[in-house]
Amino acid sequence: MRQILVTSALPYANGHIHIGHLVEYLQTDIWVRFQKLRGHRCIYICADDTHGTAIMIRAQQEGRSEEALIAEMREAHVGDFTGFGIAFDHYGSTNSEANRAVCHEIWAALRAADMVVERAVEQLYDVEKETFLADRFVRGTCPKCGAKNQPGDNCGACGATYSPSDLVDPVSTLSGTRPEVRSASHLFVQIEKLHGFLDEWTQSGTLPPESANYLKGYFLHEPLRDWDISRPGPYFGFEIPDSPGNYWYVWFDAPIGYIGATREWCDLTGESFDAWWRSASTEIHHFIGKDIQYFHTLFWPAMLKTAGFTLPTRVHIHGFLTVDGAKMSKSTGTFVRASKYLEHLDPSYLRYYYASKLNARVEDIDLNLEEFVARVNADLVGKVVNLASRSAKFVEATGLSARYPDDGGLFAAFAAEGAAIAAAYEAGDFHKAMRAIVELADRANPYVEANAPWELRKDPAKADQLQDVCTVALNLFRQLAIYLSPVLPDLAEKAGALLNDPIVSWEQAATPLTGTPVAKFQHMLQRVDPAKVQAMIEESREQAPESIPAAATPVDSAAALQADPIAAEISIDDFAKVDLRVARVIAADEVPEARKLIRLTLSLGGEDRRQVFAGIKAAYEPADLVGRLVVMVANLAPRQMKFGLSEGMVIAAGPGGEDIFLLSPDDGAVPGQRVK
Ligand code: 2FM
Ligand code: ZN
Repeated sequence: MRQILVTSALPYANGHIHIGHLVEYLQTDIWVRFQKLRGHRCIYICADDTHGTAIMIRAQQEGRSEEALIAEMREAHVGDFTGFGIAFDHYGSTNSEANRAVCHEIWAALRAADMVVERAVEQLYDVEKETFLADRFVRGTCPKCGAKNQPGDNCGACGATYSPSDLVDPVSTLSGTRPEVRSASHLFVQIEKLHGFLDEWTQSGTLPPESANYLKGYFLHEPLRDWDISRPGPYFGFEIPDSPGNYWYVWFDAPIGYIGATREWCDLTGESFDAWWRSASTEIHHFIGKDIQYFHTLFWPAMLKTAGFTLPTRVHIHGFLTVDGAKMSKSTGTFVRASKYLEHLDPSYLRYYYASKLNARVEDIDLNLEEFVARVNADLVGKVVNLASRSAKFVEATGLSARYPDDGGLFAAFAAEGAAIAAAYEAGDFHKAMRAIVELADRANPYVEANAPWELRKDPAKADQLQDVCTVALNLFRQLAIYLSPVLPDLAEKAGALLNDPIVSWEQAATPLTGTPVAKFQHMLQRVDPAKVQAMIEESREQAPESIPAAATPVDSAAALQADPIAAEISIDDFAKVDLRVARVIAADEVPEARKLIRLTLSLGGEDRRQVFAGIKAAYEPADLVGRLVVMVANLAPRQMKFGLSEGMVIAAGPGGEDIFLLSPDDGAVPGQRVK
């Protein structure tokens, strides 16, 4: 009996589970259920990935604590996983004391091995938001492959990891501004010290060949870069014990969460922790997406090796999900949340469909919605469940025959096929396993059609024959239900209940069931209703924000600026010296002696009046000005003119003459208000 610990990547606590995530969790759950059915000791461990800037910022925005936010998300995640039949042995959190303890332990080992160095790094800082910008809050061009609009921690195109400050043309996603570079002290793990080990480990069959080759060609042919694993506070995470004010970067404590969650499970069950994580005979299997392979195939084994933990036996790497050939998208409704799916459709459908698409290669899989409906209906309802629904009711009263009848070798052939199907499951080639199972169903159905139990039942003299035919049909059905049970645990349970023999082991497919009662036939699986698929897509569609019809943007001439270039720079303090106020024109008079001037009497509110001589006569009729608001310089030194004292200045644009344009405030402004 093998002892196997299996993990899926820990989902971030800042988002809901969607059908893209489910490719991984369903795949892992199927593999785990298969191992358990084979009689191995196998546990499935997962947890929420709770730390980092994203959670911190979101909690701030929502005005609650990070703990409250992650508790709510955890409940949602667990509900979604349960709804899809994903059966973890333990679901923990990276924000647990157990995880903190393992982080400390691994950190101490890294320090003892002299793997940690401290260096001042230039980090991007969002001046507007007053925060250092990490990982997801910076986007820019990948320094390795040149892909545009990549996140600050690792490149979605080539998988390279880097520091946000390495990005070319960075932009803060918090404020949209270009961040500035500031210096802060960071801690680095020198994984280059384990280059030899990683070379060997990655190339020894632990990874899909394409991943091993990729690492070799892309990263391992040159020195491995030091890994920046600290972030200055404020940061939602664990403070580094010997570096106060600094926190472990979320990607340090996330994979350690695999161990932390196992530790919790051991504490709950009384299992020996060392038997799982400090044992050469335990197999560790990680299931991850291709976007995070760098973390799991270089950093993670380096940390485990240094701290003396069990090394992963295999890292199973899958591609991404597309829907109808395109990236999932909110506007087309193909970005479907797990909870939305469950409102409309049976989880068995997706479990089967994904299984029928998944192989052991690092390839994207496509959810083609038409094919989804057709395949589930044809294979599961039309071929598998049909075997039972066309035979069970005829033996409800009698049960199965006492001796297994002659079936022309079908049962034996199905049993013999078990080894190949198991090998396909073991290798993660679920597509091959599903195809083999459907081929068996294609051999079982002609038997039922040829022997037509619905005809036999009409003749009482053929009662024994009827019982034998149904015994064969139900036994073949049961074999298929056993082979499918990692994928369709619900169907397996119903098959077990129908034949009064729960499905608990792969071995059960080798021996026919005889002489047992048959329960009343209950519906096993409904056909997929395409209208429900459509409704799910419709309800997942998010309206693009209403766009405001853009007014035709006028093309402005550069003449004004050329005629009057921008003045020398001033400081904000310089500007603050100018006291601009809203004022109301309460009188406007011509000045007979002056061709260009109008005498304005301005009110600043209350009793405060100012007399201002303004050179606007060519542009305005005095009578038109009375009552309107203008903006005036209120603290300009008074100037004695020929016609009287000028106590300020009104603000206007334009070169002069007829082209003078007074400024007015928008509605709501009142005299006396400062303009700044
Ligand atoms: O990529 C992600 O969604 C991460 N939350 C996965 C973490 S996996 C592990 F390292 F914890
Ligand atoms: Zn890249």
